[in-house]
Amino acid sequence: MTDNLLEVEGLVREFAVRGRHQNVKAVDDVSFTIARGEALGLVGESGSGKSTTARCVLRLIEPTSGTVRLNGVDITSLRGRELREFRAKAQLVFQDPYSSLNPRMRVEEIIAEGIRIHRPRVKDAEVRDEIVALLEVVGLRPDHLTRKPAAFSGGERQRIGIARALAVNPELLVCDEPVASLDVSIQAQILNLFQDLKARLGLTLLYIAHDLATVRHLCDRVAVMEQGQIREIGTRDQLYNDPQAAYTKALMAAVPRPDPIEERRKLAARRAALTGATP
Ligand SMILES: Nc1ncnc2c1ncn2[C@@H]1O[C@H](COP(=O)(O)OP(=O)(O)OP(=O)(O)O)[C@@H](O)[C@H]1O
Ligand SMILES: [Mg+2]
Repeated sequence: MTDNLLEVEGLVREFAVRGRHQNVKAVDDVSFTIARGEALGLVGESGSGKSTTARCVLRLIEPTSGTVRLNGVDITSLRGRELREFRAKAQLVFQDPYSSLNPRMRVEEIIAEGIRIHRPRVKDAEVRDEIVALLEVVGLRPDHLTRKPAAFSGGERQRIGIARALAVNPELLVCDEPVASLDVSIQAQILNLFQDLKARLGLTLLYIAHDLATVRHLCDRVAVMEQGQIREIGTRDQLYNDPQAAYTKALMAAVPRPDPIEERRKLAARRAALTGATP
């Protein structure tokens, strides 16, 4: 008996592209497993198929072929109550904490939403106690409960997003570049939080990033993706000390560390895109 929480086997996802005769294979025969309590990093350049893999794992989109199993159960055939239960077991932390939190809702309501959907019989007072405890876990304060997202910095918003994901007691947390839109100075704080959560709560993580530097401290194993395929997968030490694939070596050489100025510029552009203003 294996202790794999997640097993992805022969995953393929194609997209039809307008004006093109052939479909694009965004994910092309991807297989990997994640053991309970393990963090797997999924790394690769833009367009390599990381998010598409994540969306198939969360069943936000259907695979063209292949299987995704959580606790040995093929998730593609789940319906009704079983599907709702799966939605709680596998949670997503979004890349952009500016667009992924409803600006009209208070922190309390944002975090309570999932609890009320997945555990409708829980009493109000209990929900509030749970939320206060969750805020403490992610490094926020009880008096933050009644504020709205606009009152928080990017890093604090991402903490709210993490608390929302944790609120339904997920077994698997899928993080799709959760620090990419944050200032470089804040990125390390959020990465430390993930590390802390993994140690304290025994969380299992699928953690997506562009570069190897980001996943170095958090992930036990790393898979390197290029053009929809996994080029190399191994333990953190194997990958950093003795990379095999030419692409892994190039990726390592290309991104020694994030450039704070470039990161700030991208963040400003993203915020401008959201508000409709020019940067
Ligand atoms: N809904 C879609 N329709 C058509 N093509 C898509 C769709 N979603 C993704 N693709 C294509 O699939 C490929 C992989 O995209 P994906 O978003 O998975 O990459 P990624 O590794 O997450 O990139 P990034 O680092 O930029 O987020 C790209 O070529 C992309 O254009
Ligand atoms: Mg992506």
